[in-house]
Amino acid sequence: MHFVDALQNKIRANYPWAASPLIVSAPMAKVAMPKLAVAVSRAGGLGFIAAGYHSDHLEDLLEEAEDLFQEGLPDTPVESEKGVPKFLRIGVGFITWSASLEKALPSFSRYCPAAVWLFAPPKGFQDLIPWATKIREATALRTKIWVQVGSVSDAVEVVNAIDPDVIVVQGLDAGGHSLARGASIVSLVPEINDKLRELRPYPQKRADVLAAGAISDSRGVAGAMALGAQGCVLGTRFLASPESMIAYGYQKAILDASDGGITTVRTKIYDKVRDIHGWPEGYDGRGLINKTFLDHLGGLSEIKNRELYREELNRGDEGYGPNGRLTTYAGTGVGLIKEVISAGDIVKSLREGARNILFGQHQPKL
Ligand SMILES: Cc1cc2nc3c(=O)[nH]c(=O)nc-3n(C[C@H](O)[C@H](O)[C@H](O)COP(=O)(O)O)c2cc1C
Repeated sequence: MHFVDALQNKIRANYPWAASPLIVSAPMAKVAMPKLAVAVSRAGGLGFIAAGYHSDHLEDLLEEAEDLFQEGLPDTPVESEKGVPKFLRIGVGFITWSASLEKALPSFSRYCPAAVWLFAPPKGFQDLIPWATKIREATALRTKIWVQVGSVSDAVEVVNAIDPDVIVVQGLDAGGHSLARGASIVSLVPEINDKLRELRPYPQKRADVLAAGAISDSRGVAGAMALGAQGCVLGTRFLASPESMIAYGYQKAILDASDGGITTVRTKIYDKVRDIHGWPEGYDGRGLINKTFLDHLGGLSEIKNRELYREELNRGDEGYGPNGRLTTYAGTGVGLIKEVISAGDIVKSLREGARNILFGQHQPKL
């Protein structure tokens, strides 16, 4: 058995519909809604819905996902026996410094999503203890606990705090929010894997490690697997899929961009102009460079920049791109994205392409 398949037995046990290597769509706030998540899971990946900054409409989102699964049988969600919750083959992601566990819990009891994704606790990973404990209780351990981290020390802390099922290792080149200081997955994934092996006595189980950040094609997936990841999380690549909830202008800016290391930047200004406050110390966001950032760099006041941002909203799709002002979060892998492809085809083509690179002619059975 090839190392990739051997590594993935546990993943397969927890997400039995998923094929190897596991391709995951990230819970992108306001963008990753049921259509995207269901399309990804249906293609043998795992799709996450973003509950994002709050959990107000979670019940509706999960109901919508359930309906989508039921359209075009045969892959309906597993209806449970009496008293045991259903099981929904998607995950739900929370930005934990702002989301409400109490609001979310009833939906977990009712729908039992396959995974919950926790990101950016307000003070430290101890803050995630109630999330992990209560969700495990509500779903009788069926919902797996995923946590996204951006450093080796955070990975150790989260293991000690809640013993998660999955650690998503987020490289500095990821689109959207991450730690402002960090490294790419090239060093983070192996160093975190080494560190987890060293932890003695290791908590009950060893978390699976997935890689996120700038992975846009099958070469990135194969590379991450070679680094020791057990699957890959992609955000920016899925922005160029019809199932993403983004403006046409945003999607066009993604397709037009190249050379992401130069044309994107990590900054806090894209939150400030949108009046998003409260990200914990040490976080910022990566997006395409546009006039908001350049004017900020040139010394324009935050107040004036926000005013211009608000005016720009009236321009709709025209407000995106290097000459626009509207926030366009994207990772450094943006230059590899040349066309809009259905989310299901993204999952299948990346998975098959990665398997060709990793196995060549000697393909084990999927
Ligand atoms: C538009 C956008 C929105 C995002 N929103 C979230 C979010 O709400 N919660 C979260 O945990 N991560 C979020 N992320 C980060 C992703 O979890 C992931 O780390 C990132 O997309 C991986 O890098 P890539 O975009 O280069 O593939 C977002 C990323 C993007 C591009």
